[in-house]
Amino acid sequence: MRNRCILLAETYDDAFGALLSTPRTGRAGFHEVFGVPLYEYLEGAPDAERVFDAAMAELARSAAEAVADRFDFSPVRRVVDIGGGDGTVLSTILARYPHLEGVCVDRPSVCRRSSDRAAAGRTLAGRLTFRPGDIFESVASGGDLYLLKNVLHDWPWHSCLRILASVRNAMTRADDAQAPGRVPPHLIVLEPLLHREADSVHALFRTVVSGSGAGDFETPEDMRRLLAEADLELLSVTELSSGHHAFECTPRSATPLR
Ligand SMILES: C[S@@+](CC[C@H](N)C(=O)[O-])C[C@H]1O[C@@H](n2cnc3c(N)ncnc32)[C@H](O)[C@@H]1O
Repeated sequence: MRNRCILLAETYDDAFGALLSTPRTGRAGFHEVFGVPLYEYLEGAPDAERVFDAAMAELARSAAEAVADRFDFSPVRRVVDIGGGDGTVLSTILARYPHLEGVCVDRPSVCRRSSDRAAAGRTLAGRLTFRPGDIFESVASGGDLYLLKNVLHDWPWHSCLRILASVRNAMTRADDAQAPGRVPPHLIVLEPLLHREADSVHALFRTVVSGSGAGDFETPEDMRRLLAEADLELLSVTELSSGHHAFECTPRSATPLR
């Protein structure tokens, strides 16, 4: 919990200084205090960014184990984790399945630091690579399985649709679809959701930190609507022991989305 405590006590606590303006204006307290949104701030604050990434890794461990328990990775060759931070989720899955390769897509500064750390650790023998990029624009193609964990809840509905469109486009890219032996790619979206819209404090927390509209979805029903709007067919929904809902889906058609 070390880095999570530091993140809450330092960066988030400062953002909560503007808590009252969020219910009044609907805008992020974070933006008001720091003058820029969360991820733009982290770009220029390497110490805070290191703490943020390590806090996300601390929070991700139990979900990573739960995903590795729940899904069968034996037919999968390459897993792409979108917004995968320091690669904690992929490292856990790759350690359990030695035949797998993992590609972690995140912002350039996160990839640079995480890749240096992974190279120093050397435990995954080159099977984990970091691909810097903007998930709103495009993500690495060539995956049999894509993961999107705790990413969508940072964004309003229309931004979530943009992220899902770039993932879906990577999954349906024609050159990959024709590769010999390729299984149709799946996407697993993982989010800590509520059973009903009861916990407004939870939504408020996200709105203070991430910005206006970040509380756009709360329940599994909201996620079903979002995935349908993104032209993704839902194959299964599971509640994991980590408290996350896992939505497994696949593109309905190969038509690229804008
Ligand atoms: C809440 S964290 C979740 C990290 C990780 N998936 C996990 O569950 O531990 C969201 C991640 O999305 C990344 N991210 C945010 N905006 C991004 C963008 N435009 N392009 C690529 N990555 C982005 C952040 O750097 C961060 O690592």
